[in-house]
Amino acid sequence: MLPAPVVIASSHTRDRWATELAARARAYWTEARTAELARGKALLVPPAEAALQINHMLTLLAPALRELRAQHPVIHLLDAGCGRSYLTLLIAWCAKHVWAHPIEVLGIDRNAAVIEESRRRCALAQLDDVVRFEAEVLDTLDVIAAWARAFGSANAPVVHGVFALHACDTATCDALALGIALRAELIAVAPCCQAELARAWSALDARGDAGAFSPIWGAPHLRRETAAHITDAMRVLLVRAAGYEVKAMEFVPAEHTRKNTLIRAVKRSARDADALAAYEALRTATGGAGIALAARLASG
Ligand SMILES: C[S@@+](CC[C@H](N)C(=O)[O-])C[C@H]1O[C@@H](n2cnc3c(N)ncnc32)[C@H](O)[C@@H]1O
Repeated sequence: MLPAPVVIASSHTRDRWATELAARARAYWTEARTAELARGKALLVPPAEAALQINHMLTLLAPALRELRAQHPVIHLLDAGCGRSYLTLLIAWCAKHVWAHPIEVLGIDRNAAVIEESRRRCALAQLDDVVRFEAEVLDTLDVIAAWARAFGSANAPVVHGVFALHACDTATCDALALGIALRAELIAVAPCCQAELARAWSALDARGDAGAFSPIWGAPHLRRETAAHITDAMRVLLVRAAGYEVKAMEFVPAEHTRKNTLIRAVKRSARDADALAAYEALRTATGGAGIALAARLASG
């Protein structure tokens, strides 16, 4: 049984908050603005009820989430690096009010202050019966312990989906490694601040090892941008190697945010040695530096 939810706001405060928020959102998201945003596409959740980026992300994840609902009487999801929990709360809200499907969601973040804030928002949104938050780092054993604390289960959790929206730099690799270690059927990450490879390339450049890459490695902007895409391509290959069907796609137009890549992975098959060989080939072709996910998977 779930531990009793933390009651932070009175029902009067919650009702007033919900009414005010709904009124403000309706006032801003006029029909014309909504039509311009949707550009002819059907939005799963109207923008008056959800922020732009997570709305698009949820639309792209909808088929995979439908599969999870078809297979599991209660779906268990983890939001890795949840921050203020926009995604966590939207998914939980949809499960409750749109899909009418039982769900348990755990939001994890190493920042205790944002976890407190997420608990407060969760209570205000009246989702605290299905969503829990724990201050923790994205390490597999720590997350398993956090799930047990949050939901009171004695056994290791069966986590069906792992999400990470803008988990900075190698935290996205941590989230992917976590999803693979937990054998999650769905893993979805929107990476940001991919700095690891750019740092390694900068060091190689300083040693005079750039060769044909010199125009890229020697120009910080080009180095950062190129490294971000190569990092994500390497992630795709490594997750494929772990037995997932993986797609990298744009999830929101670049004019809204440049951090607009979604890597969506669905567990389908056995390990894929060709994908691992392709990762090694890409690593070698781009100077030899690898990414944190390779090390995480090798040690796990
Ligand atoms: C840019 S914020 C994004 C937050 C949220 N997902 C969103 O999209 O609004 C990244 C979050 O990841 C958390 N984070 C980064 N590395 C982490 C780690 N190793 N373990 C747990 N949380 C981490 C940070 O504390 C921060 O709250």
